[in-house]
Amino acid sequence: MTNWFEEESKYYMPTFKRLPVTLVRGQGNLVWDENGKEYLDFVAGWAVNSLGHCHPVVVEAVCQQVNQLIHTSNSYYTIPQLKLAKLLVENSCMDKVFCCNSGTEATEGAVKLARRYGHRYLNGAYEVITTLGSFHGRTLAMVSASGQTRHQAPYTPLPSGFVNVEFNNIEALKAATTEKTCAVMLEPVQGEGGVNTADYAYMRAIREWCDEKNILMMLDEVQTGIGRTGELFAYMHFGIEPDIITLAKGLGSGLPVGAIAAREHASVFAAGEHGSTFGGNPVTCATAFATVSYIIENQLPKHAALMGKLLSEGLENLAKRYEIVTSHRGIGLLQALVFNKDIAEELVLKCLENGLLINRLKPNAIRFMPSLIITREEIEKGLSLLEKSLKGF
Ligand SMILES: Cc1ncc(COP(=O)(O)O)c(C=O)c1O
Repeated sequence: MTNWFEEESKYYMPTFKRLPVTLVRGQGNLVWDENGKEYLDFVAGWAVNSLGHCHPVVVEAVCQQVNQLIHTSNSYYTIPQLKLAKLLVENSCMDKVFCCNSGTEATEGAVKLARRYGHRYLNGAYEVITTLGSFHGRTLAMVSASGQTRHQAPYTPLPSGFVNVEFNNIEALKAATTEKTCAVMLEPVQGEGGVNTADYAYMRAIREWCDEKNILMMLDEVQTGIGRTGELFAYMHFGIEPDIITLAKGLGSGLPVGAIAAREHASVFAAGEHGSTFGGNPVTCATAFATVSYIIENQLPKHAALMGKLLSEGLENLAKRYEIVTSHRGIGLLQALVFNKDIAEELVLKCLENGLLINRLKPNAIRFMPSLIITREEIEKGLSLLEKSLKGF
């Protein structure tokens, strides 16, 4: 049998700190390794497999489109791309969509859009205010936008044009706004930064401030979008309408597709000012269209809210009974459990041994981001496997 761990160290750049398991198959909320061992998946491809693994709707969409038209140039009209754009527009406050291939591309594209807006309407203002602890992607510009020095330090000097301010602090944001500011960009829930939810009043105050200053409010919904938080888009929890949102992860339930969506006044790209060879590809867009349609038709955001409540009650229960658990936080199916010791790495390994996939969020915290089709029984099973794994600590 091939030793894939050895092959990896020989042939692959060591950018990932991988767990000692090689996954070969998935169905629903279960995955199997090469030895046939089964795992309950509470990571879902890092909040990507919104309909779990190999959902028939996803498989059907991929197969159908692969047999019809896999790729053509964006010089031509293609139907899946336009159907997806229409679906996203009809189910949000947005008016126009641009499709890309990843979360990073979506946020980078959104920043370009904001700069274009600045050139057009704000005397060339180009600066984007982002928040400390945020994560917006891996290109140099998005590393610069993300307020996490550990991602920035290896790559200095970084592109300029970003100001990082404290999250959930409206005064800091106001103080950082100058005549150079064209937009504010933040995640409604900072996913990578620790599952930190924006305060209701903070989000509303940002909306008001952006209106007052005529600057754009951009929400990075790459992790929170498409139902994960219990609404189709997380901005819906706050009773506000952002000017731009970015999407990826759960959009294609496993296929690489991202999107920038903008309201009419913020949709300022002219022909030739932005583009992509693969973005808007028929296969990824047909799959995203099938995924989002299924999520809407089956009211999966509501289901995510219900399952999230169950998960949160279970975590609360653990917090009451285990001294090592200090708190839990999150919303819908994006939640974290925090410990008073740095046990996350070991706990993730213990869970793996016991057949549960969870994510190490911080040295002292783990994250749960299962698919939107997770069932009550699976949440209960996950909690019980987690408790079994916790017992040794
Ligand atoms: C909020 C947010 N934005 C952007 C990204 C980058 O997405 P991708 O890895 O698809 O480029 C991520 C990835 O975790 C994310 O959570």
